[in-house]
Amino acid sequence: MAMLPCTAAFLLLSFLQTVRIADSQSFIGINYGQVADNLPPPSATAKLLQSTSIQKVRIYGSDPAIIKALANTGIGIVIGTANGDIPALATDPGFAKSWISTNVLPFYPASNIILVTVGNENLKNKLLPAMQNVQKALKDASLEGKIKVSTVHAMEVLGQSEPPSSGSFDPSYGDLMKGLLEFNSANGSPFAINPYPYFAYASDTRPETLAFCLFQPNAGRMDGSTKINYMNMFDAQVDAVYSALNSMGFKNVEIVVAETGWPYKGDDKEVGASIENAKAYNGNLIAHLRSMVGTPLMPGKSVDTYLFALYDEDLKPGPGSERSFGLFKPDLTMVYDAGLSKSNQTQPPAAAPPAPAPPAATTTTSSTASRSKRWSVFWWVFLELGMFRNGIFRGLFN
Ligand SMILES: *[C@@H]1O[C@H](CO)[C@@H](O)[C@H](O)[C@H]1NC(C)=O
Repeated sequence: MAMLPCTAAFLLLSFLQTVRIADSQSFIGINYGQVADNLPPPSATAKLLQSTSIQKVRIYGSDPAIIKALANTGIGIVIGTANGDIPALATDPGFAKSWISTNVLPFYPASNIILVTVGNENLKNKLLPAMQNVQKALKDASLEGKIKVSTVHAMEVLGQSEPPSSGSFDPSYGDLMKGLLEFNSANGSPFAINPYPYFAYASDTRPETLAFCLFQPNAGRMDGSTKINYMNMFDAQVDAVYSALNSMGFKNVEIVVAETGWPYKGDDKEVGASIENAKAYNGNLIAHLRSMVGTPLMPGKSVDTYLFALYDEDLKPGPGSERSFGLFKPDLTMVYDAGLSKSNQTQPPAAAPPAPAPPAATTTTSSTASRSKRWSVFWWVFLELGMFRNGIFRGLFN
């Protein structure tokens, strides 16, 4: 009988948690690149986004039409300064001030700008002073802390990423990286990086690597130092970043996945670029993030992850895959169903721990009905215990 109040408490927590999941999937973002000549108008895109569970959008520049179209939607917006602006931002505080005056002040707070990325995959000496001047400009506009400042790194800044516990930065970046991390730490801004399991697969096309990259059943990869058996490449890559931050003394700096994705087509020699694989990667990634399981080194929370990408960018150079990462077509329909629709977000997470399936309740005799009810109570308790263990309630109780 003592089980009863206990079960009731769990059911209440289930309910609270369902509510919480339903309105707090702020960890799913998307990249909205514009190297294209066939994109729908920003207003149509804003509507599209509102029909999905996507809560954050990253643009690579600061197109005022997009920033305006997202006004009063609550959608978080990441804007970026061009790589070419970094030298001027670094040397001229007035330029940084005018950049903020032009690209932020007219739109904020109606448009929910949350982060300014200074450059993209452009780790050079002038980067830190540029970030400092942008930070100062935001401070002068009394927006310090409301809008964060960071940059976005390519995964190549890691000199070593396997096994995950040995993750470390390429020593050639030395003090440069240390300075950036001190900036992130001092200003509470995230360390943003672009891990792509797709490229890991492209360089090792064994079937077991594909399964590992697509979150599909596989034997896992053992990290010999931690004895953690990694079950997917995304977790392995993110934990390698965590280890690199940790080894520099910055494990408290938040990691943001600024880009990750999988192309749905490519040139003949681009193995793995297919609708089936793209749908598996993005769909399973979204389910993994929603499960709040986290990674082995960062359990119980989901890193903010910006999918790549909202649309294909038909004018991008390079192999065919470069123009085939889009989740939506210019006519606003889905390329494939990755589970981003609002109606998908309240369903139980697909990546939940395995549990006994309730017996099929197609016959409606009262005894099978109550058996199936009991089963579903067990199922929920089981699920809650799993999530409790994974620390999901931390957020609920603080
Ligand atoms: C998302 O929801 C729709 C409508 O309920 C459903 O048809 C579709 O299969 C779901 N997709 C996924 C990936 O769960």
